[in-house]
Amino acid sequence: MSNIDVVIMAAGKGTRMQSSMPKVLHRLGGRALLQHVIDTAQHIQARRVVVITGHGAEQVESMLAAQSGLQSVRQMPQLGTGHAMQQAVPVLDDDGVTLVLSGDVPLIQADTLLALLTLCDHSHLALLTLQTPTPAGYGRILRNPQQQVTGIVEEKDASDEQKKIPEIYSGIMAVPTRLLRAWLARLDNRNAQGEFYLTDVVGFAAADGCEVRAHCITRAWQVEGVNTPVQLAALERTFQLLQAQALMRQGVRLADPARLDVRGELVCGADVEIDVNNVFEGRVSLGEGVHIGPNCVIINAEIGAGTRVLGFTHINGEDKGVRIGKGARIGPFARLRPGADLGDEVHIGNFVEVKNSSLAKGAKANHLAYLGDLSVGERVNYGAGVISANYDGVNKHHTSIEADVHIGSNSVLVSPLTVGAGGTIGAGSVITKDTAPGALTVARGKQISIPGWQRPVKKNK
Ligand code: UD1
Ligand code: MG
Repeated sequence: MSNIDVVIMAAGKGTRMQSSMPKVLHRLGGRALLQHVIDTAQHIQARRVVVITGHGAEQVESMLAAQSGLQSVRQMPQLGTGHAMQQAVPVLDDDGVTLVLSGDVPLIQADTLLALLTLCDHSHLALLTLQTPTPAGYGRILRNPQQQVTGIVEEKDASDEQKKIPEIYSGIMAVPTRLLRAWLARLDNRNAQGEFYLTDVVGFAAADGCEVRAHCITRAWQVEGVNTPVQLAALERTFQLLQAQALMRQGVRLADPARLDVRGELVCGADVEIDVNNVFEGRVSLGEGVHIGPNCVIINAEIGAGTRVLGFTHINGEDKGVRIGKGARIGPFARLRPGADLGDEVHIGNFVEVKNSSLAKGAKANHLAYLGDLSVGERVNYGAGVISANYDGVNKHHTSIEADVHIGSNSVLVSPLTVGAGGTIGAGSVITKDTAPGALTVARGKQISIPGWQRPVKKNK
């Protein structure tokens, strides 16, 4: 077990989001900002993860309670980042290293944190810093003529000369806990903002002869924070581009990496092609050679090798999932709902909705149809406009359509039913009883013609 104790600061208000939701719960790539930071902390095998809550504490804590291995401490009221850390140190052990992270800086990467921890080496104060042409708003890194770090000055306390310093503090540091504890006890709030600044510990370290080491990075997005909806949207694009690049490095062919949104986990086999404007959510896997047309939404689904999903298709497996076999053709304009389980070479065409139904190999429903609570056998042809009437207003019922059945257009299958193998249903039938294998079943008004029929005429007024 490591001796890394991560403390994530998440008590701030986030006023500039202008939202009733706590800032750290806003989503990036489908996950709360804070969740990104927690996941990274767990990735580096932190011994302990402590989240400092304050504004919207109940909501944040209920998110934390749903996961194991997380602790929270409340900071009420919020008197600055140093005050926040003063609330956290009582739950930390002196033998550890404290890694300070921010709940609103979601894209910090595990390799960067490990490099920072290496620099800290259980005895130094290690700061993550960034060289930037736009340092305004951040704390500046102060160095002596020998280039040793001597302190951090906050923007609001900085002289005009100090404001020109291009090296900023990211808000992330690694520090031996026993030293941090002692320094925090010495903080005061005599500064421009009347706050207890965590950054003042840097001056104490330098004065105490503890070496302050800066790990200066260049990938600015890693330390970019979210304060406004504009920044949230910008960071979302950065995150999506990173995911798109990772997919392309694995060989996935994206028509346009800027027009892809993955809000969860997308796993792809070889030779997958994805056209523009697709949204993937939850867990989606695409087998070898899958093609996804433009403008699809695909949520919690498993799609087999060689299957083509044509444009404007909506697939949402929710909690039950959607499964599609190999060599299938779905869409355009198809809708697959939870529990759709489609075998190899199944065809689902435009304006066809499938819910909680299995279709065996080679079954087809190509136009304007509803399939709810069905099991459909191999090679069944489910005609245009066929509806399964699976709901009697109280309960859902199941219908079984055996292999090689042909259902004529615009029929209604009133569940529960069994349509026998090889049977044919005449177009426009309303089927309420089981049908025999091999039979033609027709259940509709007989066609009659009245020769020379006179239409009614309007009477003269
Ligand atoms: C802080 C740093 C600054 C650095 C910048 C990087 C201090 C004094 N300054 O400034 O040097 O360049 O981050 O983004 O630390 N928080 C609490 N409780 C509080 C106050 C803040 O939990 O009482 C949390 C916030 O929710 C946030 C983090 O601490 O997650 C940083 O607070 P923020 O107010 O954004 O600090 P900055 O002024 O940006
Ligand atoms: Mg900030």
